[in-house]
This record gives sequence, structure tokens and C-alpha cells, in this order.
Amino acid sequence: MKVTRTAVAGIVAAAVLITIGTSTASAEDEPTSENTSTDQPLRVLAAKAGIAFGTAVNMDAYNNDTTYRELIGQEFSSVTAENVMKWQLLEPQRGVYNWGPADQLVRVANENGQKVRGHTLIWHNQLPTWLTNGVASGEITPDELRQLLKNHIFTVMRHFKGKIHQWDVANEVIDDSGNLRNTIWLQNLGPSYIADAFRWARKADPDAALYLNDYNVEGPNAKADAYYALVKQLLADDVPVHGFGIQGHLGVQFGFWPASAVADNMKRFEALGLETAVTEADVRMIMPPDEDKLAAQARGYSTLVQGCLMAKRCRSFTVWGFTDKYSWVPGTFTGQGAANLLAEDFQPKPAYYAVQDDLARAGR
Ligand code: XIL
Repeated sequence: MKVTRTAVAGIVAAAVLITIGTSTASAEDEPTSENTSTDQPLRVLAAKAGIAFGTAVNMDAYNNDTTYRELIGQEFSSVTAENVMKWQLLEPQRGVYNWGPADQLVRVANENGQKVRGHTLIWHNQLPTWLTNGVASGEITPDELRQLLKNHIFTVMRHFKGKIHQWDVANEVIDDSGNLRNTIWLQNLGPSYIADAFRWARKADPDAALYLNDYNVEGPNAKADAYYALVKQLLADDVPVHGFGIQGHLGVQFGFWPASAVADNMKRFEALGLETAVTEADVRMIMPPDEDKLAAQARGYSTLVQGCLMAKRCRSFTVWGFTDKYSWVPGTFTGQGAANLLAEDFQPKPAYYAVQDDLARAGR
């Protein structure tokens, strides 16, 4: 399959071909690629700019859609399991683990010369029903829940030990007002569960970078400020926290922080000693798309890419899926969609070219 730059109406003058390769790029190929134009795979341009470029992977699509599969190898140098490393999918019944899909992702990432982000150890969503029901009925006591969380972190991290470079240890633990989110974890274990989790994670895999990760923290708002305070406190308590992950779920209708604000926000976490990453970027819009919304979407992606590239220790930029064909957005936000870099037919949208240009400029 070939994707032409001119296929997206009215954006790009040059008719350059992105060839969906028969061979898959490896990490070593990237810095020495001879083609110096902008029109190269994102992973190649990102390598020159000094970051990994990743995508969330839907394993059902991976196994059923050849184009989807080939594009992952060609365009990305990092992968995140969109779902298959979440607790609900890893341990659907108590004590019965389903490692297959997650192991497959790690295996193909290795074949493709890709890094793997681990997502996620603690979250309030996509928990197994045996766990949530058990807590609700009182069958699982707070003490037992704490033990279950500890076992979960050790079991999962040891299973993937040495194969995952960044782990989202704690996902979405602060709410939009800047308070610790009122979850099953906070209610039953108290606020110390966050420090405990990072300490357990450190023991389970000492080589992984351990991340806090959340949405709506691109710029310096109350929620990002609360993370800043949390990180300071954790570090003061000698808790091994290494990274701050900005999910980056944006919407055209909400507007965007300028790239400089995103960069400054990342830099203040970096000044505390952390690395940073954009972990789940997508920019949704109210359907249907039109030229203005697609142009705004491109600007939205650029604020995140440029912000990451301006920050000194932003290690990776990950999109939450790369084609509208398999996006989580329409099923989650009624009436919204078209959030990804490629359309449903895998044709690149203005946002794809904007990201290429941002990476190319930084890599020169
Ligand atoms: C989403 C997945 O994309 C969906 O397929 C799933 O049904 C729900 O979760 N923040 C996160 C991700 O940290 O794990 C979420 O992924 C999107 C929001």
C-alpha cells in the first residue's frame, strides 16, 4: 500500500510517496537514513530529533489488519498496549493471568526494534470485576486489597522485567480540581498507596523508569500544579518516581496551550529531576471534520510535539492510536471523533504532516 501526500486535500504541494515498506526499519537504521527530506517515517525523524515516537496498539486490529500492522513497524519506535496490560485484561479471574496478547506485543516490538511503555499498574478504570465486587461486598478487606496491589505490581513487572523502559505506575490519581482522586485505592488504602506503589515497582524492576501519568496536565493548571506538589513531596520522602507523563487527550473545541507553555510545564518537572513524555496524544473534534477543524487539529498536535521537543528530557511522544479506524474516541465522547494522524482509510491528515515537519525541523 502506498500513501500519497497529495491525497489530503489542499495541504501539501509536493507529491511525495510514503511507501509502506516490505522491510521493517530497525532502530539502528534510523539515524543513518540517507533520505534527508521531511517525508520520512515518524520514527526516523524522531530518532534524529532525539526522541522515540510511539503509538498505542490495539491487539485485535494488529492481528486482523495487515495495513495497520505494517504501519506500526514502519512509523513507530515505541509501542504501548492500548488495553492488554491493564489489570482487567491481565487477570480476568483472580489468580488466572492472561499474558498472551501482552507477550505478543512485547515480542513484535522486539522484532521491530521498538521500545515498550508499560501501561498501567494502578488505575481506577478497567479493574477486574472480581476485585471491584470483592471490595464493594467487603469480601476483600483494605489490608487484603493492599496485598493484592503489591502482588499485582510484583507479578506484572517481574513478568516483563527488562523489556519495558517506562512504566505508568500510577495513572490518573489526581482529579481536575487538584485533589487526590477519590478512587477505590484512596478510599481503602489512604494517600500513602502512591508512595508504596512506586517503592514496590522499584524493587520489582529497578531498571524501568517509573511514571505518574494523567490527562489535562499539558499546561500549568490546578491539576498540573497538584502533580508538581505531589512529585516534590514524593522526592522529599525518597520515593523513586522518575517520570511525568502527559497523556495529551486534546479537543479542537477546547483550544490548546501554546507549545511554550507545554514546554515550560514539562521543564518544571524536569528541574525536579524527572524525565517527561507525551504518552497518549490525540486531538478529537466534533463530527464531522472539515478543513478548519483538521487545520486546528494539526496545530493541537504541534503544540504537544513542539513542547516535548523544547523540553530537555522529554523522552518519547506517543499517540493514542494512529488511525481513526480504531480510535477509542467515538465510543467514549458522543458525537466526537477523527482524533488521529491518519484517517480511517489510513490516508495522512494535515496533523500527520505537521508532526513530520516539527520533528524534521528539530532533527536538523
Ligand atoms: C482507553 C482505551 O483506548 C479504550 O479502548 C478502553 O476502552 C478504555 O481506555 N486514558 C488512559 C488510557 O490512560 O488507558 C485510556 O485508554 C484512555 C484514557
